Amino acid sequence: MAYSEKVIDHYENPRNVGSFEKDDTTVGTGMVGAPACGDVMKLQIKVNEQGIIEDAKFKTYGCGSAIASSSLVTEWVKGKTVDEAQAIKNTDIAEELALPPVKIHCSVLAEDAIKAAVKDFKDRSQK
Ligand code: FES
Ligand code: FES
Repeated sequence: MAYSEKVIDHYENPRNVGSFEKDDTTVGTGMVGAPACGDVMKLQIKVNEQGIIEDAKFKTYGCGSAIASSSLVTEWVKGKTVDEAQAIKNTDIAEELALPPVKIHCSVLAEDAIKAAVKDFKDRSQK
């Protein structure tokens, strides 16, 4: 499997690895698994009072493409509103990283993770 340079760059220098306290009301956590391969991705956002994502972190137990996809998404969402973040498409991720067809599900995992993180944030901030 030949990885693109962008995948290798994110894989070797992953951005924003780590986690936030998930009970923090300014934090949204998305945890998703890929049935196809068993990989697991946790993506978290930290949102300010204006609804802007100030920071994002991830932990991914998976292949290079899954790590690169989650690393890229944490970069993309910073400075975005939660609604903008929710609109990120796996096809944008796959295109940016030049993922081959067999690795498309890795970018789907990242889209699902950011959507789940936003949903978690919204659900808990409404309480
Ligand atoms: Fe093997 Fe993702 S778990 S390629
Ligand atoms: Fe499963 Fe990449 S092979 S997420």
